[in-house]
Amino acid sequence: MRITVNQIKEMKQKGEKLAMLTAYDYPTAKIIDEAGIPLILVGDSLGMVVLGYESTIPVTMEEMLHHTKAVVRGAKRAMVIGDMPFMSYHISADDALRNAARFIQEGGAQAIKLEGGVTVMEKVARIVRCGIPVMGHIGLTPQSIHQFGGFIVQGKTPEAAARVLEDALALEEAGAFAIVLETIPTQLAQIITAKLSIPTIGIGAGIHCDGQVQVINDILGSYTEFVPKHAKQYAKLTDIISKAVTQYHNEVKAGAFPTEKQSYSIDESLLAELTK
Ligand code: KIV
Repeated sequence: MRITVNQIKEMKQKGEKLAMLTAYDYPTAKIIDEAGIPLILVGDSLGMVVLGYESTIPVTMEEMLHHTKAVVRGAKRAMVIGDMPFMSYHISADDALRNAARFIQEGGAQAIKLEGGVTVMEKVARIVRCGIPVMGHIGLTPQSIHQFGGFIVQGKTPEAAARVLEDALALEEAGAFAIVLETIPTQLAQIITAKLSIPTIGIGAGIHCDGQVQVINDILGSYTEFVPKHAKQYAKLTDIISKAVTQYHNEVKAGAFPTEKQSYSIDESLLAELTK
């Protein structure tokens, strides 16, 4: 049985911390799911850590759906959340609803996430009314980096902090089941977390959030072009992969791979027939 929105909300009431990780493919989703992590986000961070774009902005609905389907095949128990890419929910409320529905109907996800607070409140309410659970995302919203002038901590002045709080309250009112708080001061995240009845899931928002989310490549050390301050590397996969690839290359050049162990043979009598 898959994790439900109600179970996620109950975890906050019980004071149970929530872990969420991103995934973009079948094998990674399977590992995360088997580790018992309840929430898997198919983030549009896909664009940077998998597809090699400089930001999340070029990511398309088709790319997101392609990867969402793979993640859904790998995760049997976790709730899979599809991340609405840039301009898939900005142009009109109809567009927002149609694209949210594609994540559920075509992608097989159980919920969607979108960036913004007060400005997207009406769209969130409409999507929720149609039966699609919505996770909000406020603070440093990467689809707006050109407006922010880069990956900069948000909510640092009293006015900016008040705006982030207002966004959080608007999303709760609109029916969001949880909210990602990205790169805001710990104290602001603590205030927001205390004011909301729905869970906050922090990334660079300190210890007081109800849960935490990380980009899988950041914690595994498999994307090293930009490692954010909030990421902790639990492994260094680039080193392991690079060592394995180099060893394979050397063995092929030296004629040391493959050995008998990686080779197939046919019956000697058949061979005699062939070489007659
Ligand atoms: O795209 C993503 O991976 C995200 C997380 C960082 C929350 O939005």
